[in-house]
Amino acid sequence: MDGGKLKGSTVVTHVGHWRNISVLSHRWWSSAAMLGVLTIIFAMAAPAIAQSSEQHPWMNKSLSSDERADMVLKEMTLAEKIGLLHGEGMPGWSRVMPKLYLGNGGAGFVLAVPRLGIPQIEMSDAAYGVRMSAQNGRYSTALPANIAAAASWDPEAACDYGALIGGELRAQGYNMSLGGGVNLTREPRNGRTFEYQGEDPLLAGTLAGNRIKCEQAQHVIGDIKHYAMNDQEDGRDEVDVIISRRAMRESDLLAFQIGIGIANPGAVMCSYNAVNGDYACQNKYTLTDVLKKDWQFKGFVLSDWGGTHSTVKASAAGLDMEQPLDDFFGQKLKQAVEAGKVSMAELDDHAHRILRSEFEDGLVDYPTQKSVIDVEANLAIARRIAGQSIVLLKNKDGILPLDRKTVRSIAVIGPHADTGMISGGGSAQVDPPGPASPWQAHVWFPTSPLKAVSAADPAIKVQFDSGADPSSAAALARQVDVAIVFAYQWMSEGKDLPNLSLPENQDALIEQVAAANPRTIVVLETGTAVTMPWIDKVSGVLEAWYAGSKGADAVADVLSGDVNPSAKLPLTFPRSEADLPHPDLVKPPGGGGDAGAVVKPEDAKPTFSVHYDEGLKVGYKWYDAENKPVLFPFGYGLSYTTYQYSDLKVEPGKEPTVRFVVKNTGSRAGAEIAEVYVALPADAGEPPKRLAGWSKVHLNPGESREISLPVNARELSIYDEGADAWKQLPGRYTFMVGGSSKDLPLQQAINLP
Ligand code: BGC
Repeated sequence: MDGGKLKGSTVVTHVGHWRNISVLSHRWWSSAAMLGVLTIIFAMAAPAIAQSSEQHPWMNKSLSSDERADMVLKEMTLAEKIGLLHGEGMPGWSRVMPKLYLGNGGAGFVLAVPRLGIPQIEMSDAAYGVRMSAQNGRYSTALPANIAAAASWDPEAACDYGALIGGELRAQGYNMSLGGGVNLTREPRNGRTFEYQGEDPLLAGTLAGNRIKCEQAQHVIGDIKHYAMNDQEDGRDEVDVIISRRAMRESDLLAFQIGIGIANPGAVMCSYNAVNGDYACQNKYTLTDVLKKDWQFKGFVLSDWGGTHSTVKASAAGLDMEQPLDDFFGQKLKQAVEAGKVSMAELDDHAHRILRSEFEDGLVDYPTQKSVIDVEANLAIARRIAGQSIVLLKNKDGILPLDRKTVRSIAVIGPHADTGMISGGGSAQVDPPGPASPWQAHVWFPTSPLKAVSAADPAIKVQFDSGADPSSAAALARQVDVAIVFAYQWMSEGKDLPNLSLPENQDALIEQVAAANPRTIVVLETGTAVTMPWIDKVSGVLEAWYAGSKGADAVADVLSGDVNPSAKLPLTFPRSEADLPHPDLVKPPGGGGDAGAVVKPEDAKPTFSVHYDEGLKVGYKWYDAENKPVLFPFGYGLSYTTYQYSDLKVEPGKEPTVRFVVKNTGSRAGAEIAEVYVALPADAGEPPKRLAGWSKVHLNPGESREISLPVNARELSIYDEGADAWKQLPGRYTFMVGGSSKDLPLQQAINLP
């Protein structure tokens, strides 16, 4: 037989066979034959059916996630339950990981229970995009860093941000994000400031909550982290943070509370550090008393990578899952259960929470399917969000937007300004196209300021100087109409900044360029505040943060005026480190840095403490209370138009309503972030004011609009440590409205019961 014939006859035989069955099936013998055939077919398909099946009663989508989780739990063996409570490793983790090949290449995974239709949980870091795409041969969009997104003060932009990341996670085969960092900027030198959402709990919690909510709508488990008080990186896994409960509840924990309230995230990641004596992943107060009892959190707590320190204690305190391996929540947990040191009820609660999140966030009902994303569409979103995130800090004599009639030549100056823009490092790092990015490396995204500025108007002559030799940069600056210096400050997880200065002699570069040409604009690519010894000598300053895949185009949009800047600072820029609550960072005994996520022995103790004596006074609350002038205040940011505030009316009530009018008094359309602050009665013992709400209002030239903002009772309350509850004091509350925390033209005081 030749090959063609064999092929043909096989196909024909197959079709004929089925035809015969359907035609002859009325005869008893053919029915018997059919039964035999069907039996074989079903036997072959059986494993697939058992895995996906609608046949399990918990696959009924009309049941609640709690009911479904309980039904599965009843069927599980002890080994299967334990299997849910720990990871199976992460590429590059320092131990033998026999099952690593079963994972998707991300930061962690939890094995499936196929016989019960429970899928594998595949986790990826995803701070400003999906991590590890290069080493896995995939593609990820880099959004502007989280601190940038916070500068938009825009919950809708936060939602777009989360939806994009959720979609890209699933396209890459993940169903859990490790992205929702919300630690407050108590210490702006904290190496992860760019991964967080600034210094105010209402702003940070609202934006993180909206991001996670929309991420989860893509059927991934969302995670909020690092719970709690992980406010510096130096010595993060050996530091004991000492802080009063009231200060914690009204600052850092409040950001988590608000975020969790909005998003109902499937997971909370506990942090490396200790809080008031106990490591955060075995801290009963934060995990059980506050998170699970007071806030009624229904999802699960997973440890930061290597942040688990014990078995019995951690389990009792409320840790549900160890990552990335099973040093404490594997064999040791099984033995503890068998020895009666951990009750079955406690173990079931851990497993229930994990299963519940898998149902609640759609992991079971919507299995992931690797796919190709719409790269162009996501880049357009990244560009739009970056445009909403760039803060105009200085604009002397209206140098911006650049006037195409008078500006005929531009010098683009700065290290890498011809090829790319810097990004934030550590586990947040998103890979640009090309090889995988090493840990803690300076990674420049291929978004070229030189190209973007040149493309904005081909008639303008644009020249480049790297700034390596400031005098050559100054010589170029002298010949052009406008000099634009792109300055950067890189930061990463695992180490704090030594100070808030621009590195690599960039201050001197800016000084020299500005001396040569006062029409100098500085574009900052930073992940936190920087000091600006040259501020009085330059004409313009834009804070572009780590601006992501489309950063240069977004900067060019603002320089040209195609985008009217609307962003405001989510953190204070101090005049110098001397004005910070802790002028000197407290370092671990061994010096700076991070000891690395190593598994510590069970009795390991923190080696040093940081006392957050400033307590409630985080960010602007500190500078207000201490009467310290700042470089740029919280909530500050200019526009190419101007706004006027008027007609404040505060209506008392349980949730008072603040009404006022904002008018666009300039000649361009714009969006104003109108901010509302409140001062509590004097006997509340609070800093001078706190953010109570805001509204981002889009206005055409000459247009005015009345804003009506209800103020949540919690924004008027203090945390009473003795009563372990929030309470509102009777007395005089002063409401203040305006365009930044230091520019509040409208004020009205009312008495509240
Ligand atoms: C970081 C986490 C991250 C984890 C997994 C840790 O070092 O602190 O934020 O999710 O690693 O990569």
